[in-house]
Amino acid sequence: MDRASCPPGAILCVVGARPNYMKMAPLLRALRTQPELPAPVLVHTGQHYDPMLNERLFADLGLPRPDVNLGVGSGTHAVQTAEVMRGFEPLIEAYQPSCVIVVGDVNSTLACSLVAAKKGVAVAHVEAGLRSFDRSMPEEINRVLTDQLAALLYTTERSAHYNLKREGIADERVQFVGNLMIDSLLEHRARAIPAAQTLSLSGASPDVLASPEGFGVVTLHRPSNVDDPVALAECVQILRSLSEVLPLVCALHPRTEANIASFGLASRLASERLIVLPPQGYLEMLGLMSAATLVITDSGGIQEETTALGVPCLTMRENTERPITVEQGTNILVGRDHARIVRLAEEIVATGGKRGRVPELWDGRAAERIAAHLAAWLPARAALAHA
Ligand code: UD1
Repeated sequence: MDRASCPPGAILCVVGARPNYMKMAPLLRALRTQPELPAPVLVHTGQHYDPMLNERLFADLGLPRPDVNLGVGSGTHAVQTAEVMRGFEPLIEAYQPSCVIVVGDVNSTLACSLVAAKKGVAVAHVEAGLRSFDRSMPEEINRVLTDQLAALLYTTERSAHYNLKREGIADERVQFVGNLMIDSLLEHRARAIPAAQTLSLSGASPDVLASPEGFGVVTLHRPSNVDDPVALAECVQILRSLSEVLPLVCALHPRTEANIASFGLASRLASERLIVLPPQGYLEMLGLMSAATLVITDSGGIQEETTALGVPCLTMRENTERPITVEQGTNILVGRDHARIVRLAEEIVATGGKRGRVPELWDGRAAERIAAHLAAWLPARAALAHA
């Protein structure tokens, strides 16, 4: 790393995997509008590398090319986390950053927080305090540890603050700012690609859109649903039954697609009412979700996006770290309860289902709030250090 090309004091903004990009895009723009703040530098760890999980979303969201890409790629959790740490440490030495911003709960989030905190650099964690209370999820471990390491914790819902308090984190480190994911959604909603266009471009028949029940959108990628052959077979069986209630459009993560093939389940998905697409771009997903009768998912972000869009969401998990989407939004936790999922889908088709309301501060201005807070916090911290 050439020191001369790295202005000292930069804010290092870390992304690693798909759900990070929707959060970082509005924040990066907002940081640039604060003249008091040092320049942000975008660091991609390379955890996700497929063009459909990466370049496509960068373009949709107007994210600039990363200033640095560590190119770590896939691996076991230990290998991936370690590779990110090895790659990130020299950046801290080269940039001497004033702060490192991490978002969400992926392996890259924890790895960079750990490196920065041990080098004495302040970590700001966006989307702090969410808890599923399920340590079998790798993301839960990433969340708990990142929050312990962070100097600043920006939260999306009030329950997060109670979780942090319980874990001994001082109130003054926590700021309730709203939801960056929803900043992106509100900004790009008008540019969403119509579902008919997405289907015909993928070579799928847009006939499903003419069905009187409308259609459902499916995404599944959690290890608990897709890595175990029995669990994945159950999911596929559920989708088969659901497709008799309404046609389904499934946008599959590469790991889900690979596991369906390797567990010999592909033929069970073959149906005219079950359209399987590769991972979709951000604007395609927005168009599909906005037009859907319901969404079936195990994603964290989609639980929030459907709540903001007012589209009923059935989440195929036993718990959620985003309780506000259930309490106030359109989300219902259904696990892999086959009979209940079919019954709820029938109910949604018949009645329109749960409409919910948009949670507090999910108003498109979270990035602005974080940038304004940092613009006051960083100089105050620097002044204290020199006192
Ligand atoms: C990661 C996050 C998860 C997030 C998800 C969004 C962790 C622990 N998990 O899960 O929280 O919801 O991203 O998509 O950080 N793969 C590809 N192409 C890629 C990247 C991955 O084919 O560009 C395949 C590889 O087989 C890889 C597997 O997906 O081994 C898992 O990738 P990984 O980044 O470890 O986790 P995700 O399942 O994508």
